[in-house]
Amino acid sequence: MIYYKTKAEIELIRSSCAIVGMALTEAASFLKPGVTTKQLDERLEQLILDNGAVPSFKNYRGYPFTSCISVNEAVVHGFPSDKELKEGDIVSVDVGAFKNGYHGDSAYTFALGNPGDGVLQLMRVTKEALYKGIEKAIAGNRVGDISFAVQDYAEKKHGYGIVRELVGHGLGKHLHEDPQVANYGRRGTGAKLQDGLVIAIEPMVNLGTKDVFYDDDGWTVRTKDGKPAAHYEHTICVHKVKAEILSSFAQVEKAEKANANLHAAYY
Ligand code: MF3
Ligand code: CO
Repeated sequence: MIYYKTKAEIELIRSSCAIVGMALTEAASFLKPGVTTKQLDERLEQLILDNGAVPSFKNYRGYPFTSCISVNEAVVHGFPSDKELKEGDIVSVDVGAFKNGYHGDSAYTFALGNPGDGVLQLMRVTKEALYKGIEKAIAGNRVGDISFAVQDYAEKKHGYGIVRELVGHGLGKHLHEDPQVANYGRRGTGAKLQDGLVIAIEPMVNLGTKDVFYDDDGWTVRTKDGKPAAHYEHTICVHKVKAEILSSFAQVEKAEKANANLHAAYY
């Protein structure tokens, strides 16, 4: 069952996304070699609570933390831990915030120091693939048009592995609503997109094989070949001419560029 959002609901989702954006911006400022992902998670939780919101992920189906922090070959749903980050790590931070009855959801991958040109390119292409998908999120198109655009760019054009096991999703009152938004698929298939549909688009792209497995913790998704993976996510709203991006990377990218410990993925 797909729920289309009213203008008032879209504004509430935008406010929740703003808090998520603040959290990702905090991550962009805080990350450096020597900090632990648990320290980062605790800061993000405090920031979300200070802004009158609740972390969307904590206790969702038993997930025990505020954020998912996935390092290197961890693709998504990584558990924050006491392990210190080091130069050359790439760190995907995924955050959700729930306020006034609505969720916002967004994710970003950061590079500590220089992980090498190949990995920086993976990050850039994954972010670009997200925007390729967003370009297709217009009324009259189908979900498969988004899926195809993401896959075509990341997999066909650049030869990376697109994760099949996890997908983007509708969201609003619930973190996960219909429809599912796969990052691979065929044009002209799936549910029709209509004005007011709010979805999270979130390509998970692997440098090597598309194949993944679940860690013993039951959550962390890792690449089978141990090569790194990137993940970017926006919450967007479908409209007639152009999708509206409800989350924003503007502040995140500003903080990323200002943090000398991070290497932004642009050449
Ligand atoms: N952005 C991810 C998703 O929407 C994060 C969910 S983590 C979970 O699936 F813990 F909440 F499951
Ligand atoms: Co999501």
